[in-house]
Amino acid sequence: MNQKKIVLGITGGVAAYKSAELTRLLVKAGYDVHVVMSEAATHFVGTVTFQALSGNIVYTDQWDARRPNNMPHIDLTRGAAAVIVAPASADFIAKVAHGQCDDLLSTLVAARDCPLMIAPAMNRQMWENPPNQRNIAQLKADGVSIFGPGNGEQACGEVGDGRMLEAQDIFDHLEAALQPKVLKGKRVLLTAGPTFERIDAVRGITNTSSGKMGYAIARAAYEAGAEVVLVSGETSLPTPIGARQIDVKSAQQMLTAVEAEVDACDIFIGVAAVADYYVLNPSEQKIKKDAHILTLELAPNPDILAGVSSRPNAPFCVGFAAESENLLEYAEAKRLRKKLPLLVANLVQNAFGADTNEVVLLDDHGETRLHSAPKIDIARKLVAHIARLYPNVKQD
Ligand code: PMT
Repeated sequence: MNQKKIVLGITGGVAAYKSAELTRLLVKAGYDVHVVMSEAATHFVGTVTFQALSGNIVYTDQWDARRPNNMPHIDLTRGAAAVIVAPASADFIAKVAHGQCDDLLSTLVAARDCPLMIAPAMNRQMWENPPNQRNIAQLKADGVSIFGPGNGEQACGEVGDGRMLEAQDIFDHLEAALQPKVLKGKRVLLTAGPTFERIDAVRGITNTSSGKMGYAIARAAYEAGAEVVLVSGETSLPTPIGARQIDVKSAQQMLTAVEAEVDACDIFIGVAAVADYYVLNPSEQKIKKDAHILTLELAPNPDILAGVSSRPNAPFCVGFAAESENLLEYAEAKRLRKKLPLLVANLVQNAFGADTNEVVLLDDHGETRLHSAPKIDIARKLVAHIARLYPNVKQD
């Protein structure tokens, strides 16, 4: 396997404990993680923790005879996809802003030939300190990515800006930064999750869409440089990184939200499992049980995707089809009926609620199979496919 190498720098701050979790997330995702700690960092967490989690030697000292050429400041970043420093202290930020090289980590950062990302962590007053703010502005001007800081309660008991982001957030930002920017400048509107059609005050008709596929595509589109608006039915998932989320319940609410946003989008992706019918005259009160048969009258919902694709100056439209049989035949018929340049066909039994998916992309050129993989991997491949088709369908 061709593993991506990441250098994880850790400087002195109590948030260093979160970097153990960050190391674990990176290793779990298949990265080859090389940890470099400042001397101050080792007062907070020991090197052995990071050695055990990363499976690699941890470096703390410029003068380290374990490297045959004694040049860890050069060797460690060669071939690396990125250097990420988390936590980055005010002192470390000041050093990088001024090109100072007085320990292994600051020297390695100066000698790197890959992107640098930092996750600041410090007391709120130190974060607001004008010299620190000038240093941060300098790093941004130098092309360094700054992740966070977050706001909230701090280890010192004060409350404000300066908390290091959680490990998962840093991981998500790092992954986003490493993806090719194939949708840079494009505006993507998506629907995701289930809809809910009310029967009475407590009951409704819904389905088992978890939102995982749509949220993964929202994340992949953001990673690819797009501006992302996600119109979502009810799910238990956190808003994907970089997306503006509009929460809806029913198909009618989803349609209203899509209509309000669609003029401003270049690409529309319908991932939601939208109810085909809604209940005519739902009861305001909870319907009482009695011995009679209860009949619900259902009326068809508008087709949101077909409505978008038939607009004059329609965005590039991508549909989904979940079928339980005759997948390709039914899906291609759906693509042609809804006039879509691209449709993603998946099997109901593989797709609903699962963490993985297996899909066939149908377009005017034929079929492209994406074998079973985590939904984020499928989403990134789908985004790359959209980026290849888009210029042939749309002239901006
Ligand atoms: O959320 P997960 O658990 O991750 O599951 C993902 C998924 C299975 C929901 C997703 O991969 C998927 O297949 N979504 C489409 C589900 C479906 O069967 O849609 P459909 O065949 O009813 O509709 C076809 C297309 O038209 C879809 O793009 C749908 O969003 C759209 N549609 C349908 C009806 C309607 N009233 N409005 C629409 O926009």
